[in-house]
Parts: sequence; C-alpha cells; structure tokens
Amino acid sequence: MEVRKAVIPAAGWGTRFLPVTRAYPKELLPLINKPLIQYAVEEAINSGIKEIIIVIAEGKYSIPDYFKPAPELRALLRARGENKLADTLERLDNQNDIKYVTQPERLGLGNAVLMAQKAVGDEPFAVILPDDVVDAREPVIAQMLKIFKTYGTSVVGVECIDTEEIHRYGVIRPETVSPRVHKVLALVEKPAPEVAPSHLGIVGRYILTPQIFPAIEATQPGSGGEIQLTDAAALLLQSQPIYALEFAGQRFDTGNPQGWLEAQIAMGLKHPEFGDSLREKLRRMI
Ligand code: G1P
Repeated sequence: MEVRKAVIPAAGWGTRFLPVTRAYPKELLPLINKPLIQYAVEEAINSGIKEIIIVIAEGKYSIPDYFKPAPELRALLRARGENKLADTLERLDNQNDIKYVTQPERLGLGNAVLMAQKAVGDEPFAVILPDDVVDAREPVIAQMLKIFKTYGTSVVGVECIDTEEIHRYGVIRPETVSPRVHKVLALVEKPAPEVAPSHLGIVGRYILTPQIFPAIEATQPGSGGEIQLTDAAALLLQSQPIYALEFAGQRFDTGNPQGWLEAQIAMGLKHPEFGDSLREKLRRMI
C-alpha cells in the first residue's frame, strides 16, 4: 500500500531549548534561514508524500502562521525587483497540502501521533520528528519507504548512538537481515546504558501501519510519565513485525543548543552562499 501521508509532531514544550521556547516554538528555530520544521516538510515532499499533518498544541499557532500563503508579501517583493526571494516564497506557498490537528494535553509523543488518527485514516503513514534534521542525498523517508515496500510492515529509522547518549533514545534489539537493515526483536524507550539492548537508537523517523493507533490507545504512560511511541511500537511488535533501517545521511539533534549549533556550522559550511566565508572566519576564530 502506498504511503501518502506524513505526521509531524510539533506539540512538545521544547524544554531542552529553554528559555527561548517559553515564547517561541522550537520547530520554528532557524537552521540557516529556514525553520527546522521546513526541513521535515521538504523531506516528506521529496520522498513523494502527498499530505502532511502537523500536530500542534496551545501556544504554537505561529507554526500554521508560518505556512500560510503570503501573496501580498510576494507581490511587494516582485514590485521591488526581489524576484529570487519572491520565487522562494512562491515555492513555499505551493507546498503540499498541510493539515493541523491539536493535542489538547501534552501527554507525550505517542499521544501526539494518536491525535492524527482521524486525519491519517486506515493507511500506513510516515512520522518525522522535526528536531532530527538529516542531511542526506536521498531523503531518509524515501530510503525507509524502500524497506517498507520490501517487507510491507512498519519501519523505524535508526543510528548508532554513543553509550553516554543512549538513555535519550528509543532503542531496538536488532537481528540483522542485510547490511543496515534489521528485524526488530524488541524496543525500549530511554533505557539506562547497562540495560540498553543495543546501540541502535531510533532517530525521529518512522513508517507505521495504522495498527499503531490501537496500540497507542492501549499504551500506559512510560518514561517521563508520558505515552511513548516506542512503547506503542513494542506492543505492535507482538502482532506484526517491525524493521529498522540504518539510513544514510548525517543527523543533527537540533532540539538542544549544542546539536543546533553543530547543525548550523555543518550545514553552513556546505552552503553555496555562506560556506566559503564561514570556513575562513571559523579558521580565524580557532
Ligand atoms: C523521542 C522518542 C525517542 C526517539 C527520539 C529521537 O524522544 O521518544 O524514542 O529516540 O525522540 O529524537 P524525545 O527526544 O522526544 O525525548
């Protein structure tokens, strides 16, 4: 079955990025000159996804504002001869269909995904966490869709995580079936390093069958007292296989200041307009 929809959860508090997130959704923080959530939307579109469902919460209405078409601004830019900028805005305004659903209570990632159930319906869908930005030649979701086509079941995107960081992730127990592809034997959310089933952490990318929704409904609050998507996937695993792909690409955890800074520098150095002068300036700084 074709995967036509992607859910982008953007309802969290953004505590790792306080204090800026007191008044500003972390999904709109810029990476160079585009908000983080724009990278997620582009990854979905470039993977062939037709419809995007963004889960927001109270106080995060500037996300739909950002995606609102801006015809007056475009006209103003054209009148001033700033056609390149106007073209960029026009591309944004023609972005695929975006729908919004609201999570009334911030009960965790699993609950946020559950809020999209009606909009998704009875079909497989992608989930992209906008914190995890991946610089990849082939978009990660496109890479994962190939695995979904092969096995016809849910797929999670994983990466090898350092022992000191493993307690921040959903972690799988893998049975390797081919290079970089693993059958998932178990999933644990935020394990202590001594009990982590491997070093393969889930990094913000999922293709899920719709059976994840009843699994979320049956999931009790877990790590941090929240309803965790990983715990729901562990429940789903009892009735359906799940696969994991170690995708190709460089991932940045932009949901905290350190990862965000690293992403700015790495992506800045590659940027066609700013790269060379940034390299030069960094060289002088260190
Ligand atoms: C969430 C998920 C976790 C996943 C991580 C990836 O955690 O619950 O399983 O590994 O995203 O970034 P959070 O970062 O919201 O604590």
